[in-house]
Amino acid sequence: MLVTVQQHILQQQEDQFPAARGNFSSLLSGMTLATKMIQAKIRRAGLADILGSAGVTNVQGETQQKLDVYANQAVLHCLGARESVAFLVSEENEQPVTIDRSEGGKYIVVFDPLDGSSNIDVNVSVGTIFSILRRPDGAHGVAAVLQPGWKQVAAGYVVYGSSTIFVYTAGKGVYGFTLEPEIGAFVLSFADMKMPAQGNTYSVNEANADSFPESYRTYLGRLRSRGYGSRYIGSLVADFHRTLLKGGVFLYPPTKKNPHGKLRLLYEANPLAFIAEQAGGQAISGDARIMDIEPKAIHERTPLIIGSRSEVAEFHQIDTRDATGRI
Ligand code: AHG
Ligand code: MN
Ligand code: MN
Repeated sequence: MLVTVQQHILQQQEDQFPAARGNFSSLLSGMTLATKMIQAKIRRAGLADILGSAGVTNVQGETQQKLDVYANQAVLHCLGARESVAFLVSEENEQPVTIDRSEGGKYIVVFDPLDGSSNIDVNVSVGTIFSILRRPDGAHGVAAVLQPGWKQVAAGYVVYGSSTIFVYTAGKGVYGFTLEPEIGAFVLSFADMKMPAQGNTYSVNEANADSFPESYRTYLGRLRSRGYGSRYIGSLVADFHRTLLKGGVFLYPPTKKNPHGKLRLLYEANPLAFIAEQAGGQAISGDARIMDIEPKAIHERTPLIIGSRSEVAEFHQIDTRDATGRI
């Protein structure tokens, strides 16, 4: 008998959040609704006027694509209507969006509405990433949002790929659901996902290799000498999803253009780090566990090394030796 994501979330809520009384499941249902709206647009790209640039620059200094704008509006709309939400924090909005001015809203949702924007126009997989935090009592605005990743209540992503897959964790394992177009519901397709302890692929944008720190170049040379393959899609969600299923390692190192890494801590690194660790993998920034980093700003960036325990541990060993100069 098929299990929908709603049924699964309700079960998780009963197990974990008995006091949530529907708040938590209502919030996650808002997220799945938004992703269904986004996937419907993506599946009609080229027919609906959803390709190309929206002609606006966002807070990241990047040109917003039409689908970035649509996806952001879909998530803000679907979650903004959920009574349990206090604040929404989006890659596309400079400041948190306050939903509930009273003390009622229990949760904060931090999200990347459309990940992999550069791939939209060329029909390559893109995604949506979200992270759910509890609102600290009486906290407001940015201060309420700047929480380390280990405080996440839940995290997930959707890959709009050859199929549309919703993957999430609420701290008790990782579960994957495939959108069944005939019934318009996400149906359980991967129960209790575990990342292989070791893989044979690394994923990095080699075009930046000349500006990688020495430890990254040494590490990648070692993997190549052991016959590792290279795969890089350029959409973090798709590169991570492959790593979750097949093992190996994804890296976005510090580069000349992004000396602190390009990926954002709160709505890219933290949610995927939560999923990676729940599936038996690891996620570090080089010297620190991603989920231990105390954020200083909501759009803060971080280097990211995420994947199988074996590959991430090997990088950490090299990077630590490099840092102490004994390499
Ligand atoms: P976004 O589209 O949300 O800005 O994210 C793009 C990110 C991430 O998806 C991907 O891993 C990375 O940018 C690719 O960056 P490069 O093109 O510099 O490799
Ligand atoms: Mn992104
Ligand atoms: Mn994005």
